[in-house]
Formats: sequence, structure tokens, C-alpha cells
Amino acid sequence: MTELNYGKHYSVMKEDVLKVFHEHLDSKEGPITLCDFTFGAGGHSIALLEEFPNCHLVCFDQDGEAYKNGLELLRTKGLEKRVTFINDNFVNFNQHIESGLKLDGALLDAGVSSHQFDTGERGFSFRFEGPLDMRMSDKIKVTAKDIVNECDRDELLKILYEYGEEKFAKNIVDTILERRSQSPILTTKDLEDICFHSYPKKLRHGKIHPATKTFQALRIEVNNELGVLTDIIDQVIPQLEIGGVFQVISFHSLEDRIVKHEFKGRLKGDLPLQILTKKPILPSKEEIFENSRSRSAKLRVIKRVKDWPTKNKYAK
Ligand SMILES: C[S@@+](CC[C@H](N)C(=O)[O-])C[C@H]1O[C@@H](n2cnc3c(N)ncnc32)[C@H](O)[C@@H]1O
Repeated sequence: MTELNYGKHYSVMKEDVLKVFHEHLDSKEGPITLCDFTFGAGGHSIALLEEFPNCHLVCFDQDGEAYKNGLELLRTKGLEKRVTFINDNFVNFNQHIESGLKLDGALLDAGVSSHQFDTGERGFSFRFEGPLDMRMSDKIKVTAKDIVNECDRDELLKILYEYGEEKFAKNIVDTILERRSQSPILTTKDLEDICFHSYPKKLRHGKIHPATKTFQALRIEVNNELGVLTDIIDQVIPQLEIGGVFQVISFHSLEDRIVKHEFKGRLKGDLPLQILTKKPILPSKEEIFENSRSRSAKLRVIKRVKDWPTKNKYAK
């Protein structure tokens, strides 16, 4: 597998992320340790390695393909010796790191990669025909197909309401139940068709495709995306070195709410921290123009500090 398998790749808010790291890490002398929890196609990781020649990078990706591709990319660029690459869910961070490891900086670019999204066989997108899979890792055993065909009405409604905020969840779930009583729902296009026909006719051709929220909801459920996000924030903050920053890029309001809430919640602990983004940093118009997928991105940053900042309105 080569870099080419991942095609042209655009790392969301890369310049903003680098700027924050530079502002807070440039004054550090000697070696530093950074962590990229979501390697993906490696765009952020490579940039970190190139911009901070004094860094050792720990990175994670639970996707076997991203991992293999990443190892090769790092080797091709002669960077592999500066990287510890872990092919696992980042939620297992504490199990992998040596006790006493301190991070000068960490980045989490949440969700699915463009590569995963655009690979029909992975089943993430209704734009392509594929099996209803949606697993980011083959260690995950339950697929979207299992959920759609086996969960009862209440479970499906909960998933679509909570993770998709789908107004027409009832219509969609009832159509799912009716269709699966005839034959199993197996493909992305089967589910797309169900969502489309469950929407009121006048809303079927709106800005947001009728299947968008259902696909988002199932993906979040399959990969426990919100659970691991809450958990990792909890694990990372105590590992931050004084002066260390943790940056999280989220892509929808459910994720952003968690990041905002978890960051604020940590200010009630004993560790002095400062939230550097009262309002999230948003991608520039130019970035959105170049890469429309960045339009919903939000970047939030928290910093471990020596003492509680006097003007931090959240501080104790
Ligand atoms: C949005 S992409 C990251 C793109 C990357 N920043 C870049 O510049 O190429 C997210 C990546 O993180 C991985 N990922 C998502 N959740 C994960 C988790 N809980 N544990 C490990 N990897 C995860 C996905 O497999 C995917 O490859």
C-alpha cells in the first residue's frame, strides 16, 4: 500500500493547529513529545514532524489500512524513527503509554477520514454502493447492518434521535421495520432509499440529503465515537506537561458540545488549566472554499498551566 492509495488529502485546519502549537511550544528547549490521536492520512502528523524537528510523535489510528499506509508514508519520508505508531483505539491510550510520559502537545481530529468516507466498501457513505458496515476498525464486531436489522424500534429511535438529531426518525425507523420484515437491509443504497422515501416529499431534495443524519447516527453508534471522545479528554489532560496544549477538532455539534463541556468540567479539578478558546476557532473562508468538508470544523484548545490564571472566569 502506498501514499497514493490515500490520494490527495486535505488536513483540516492544519495551519491553525500549527500556529497554536508554535505559540505555545516554540519557547521550549530540548526534546518534546507530541501525540496525534487520529493519524488518518498523516497530514497533521507529518506537518508536526516537519515543523518541530525536536519532537517525538506518538500517534494512533484504529484503522488497519490507515496504519499500514501510515507506516509506509513515514518510512518513505525517513521519519519513522521519530514516531511511535499505535494501531489501536485511542481510548486505550493509558494502556499503551509508559507511566510518567508527559505530552507537550496533543491533537485529536475527530471522526472519519476522507479516505474511509470515499471508500464504498467501508459503507460510510450513501454516495457509494457498499455493504452497511461503517466500522473504523475490524476489532469492532457490530456493523451498521447488524444495528439496522437487529435493534428494536426503541433502540433505533434512540440512535437516530440522539446521534443524528433526526426529526423524521419515526418515519425512517418504521420504514426500516417494514422493509426488514420482507428481507434484510444490506447495503448503503438500500438504507439511502429508505431514508429518502421516509422524508416528506417536499423535503426530499433539500440542502441536506434525507440519509445524512441517519448515516451519521449509525456511524457514531458503531464506533462509539462520543464515548471515546469523553474518555480520551479525561485521560490526556493529566498527561499534559506544564505549558502543554491539547487541541481537538470536531465536526458536528454533538462532538463540539462534549469537547466544550469536558474542557470546562476539567477546570473544576486540581490541575491548573486554561481554556484558550472561549469560542472555537473556525476554518477560514479560503479553507472552506478549497475543502468544503472543513465547513463544519471547530477547533478548541486547552492548556495545562503552572498556576490558575487570574482572569480565567471558569477557574476556582
Ligand atoms: C479525520 S481523520 C484524521 C485525518 C488526519 N488528521 C490527517 O491529517 O490525515 C480521523 C482518523 O482517525 C481515526 N480514528 C477515529 N476515531 C479513532 C479512535 N477512537 N481511535 C483511533 N483512531 C481513530 C480514523 O480511523 C481516521 O483514520
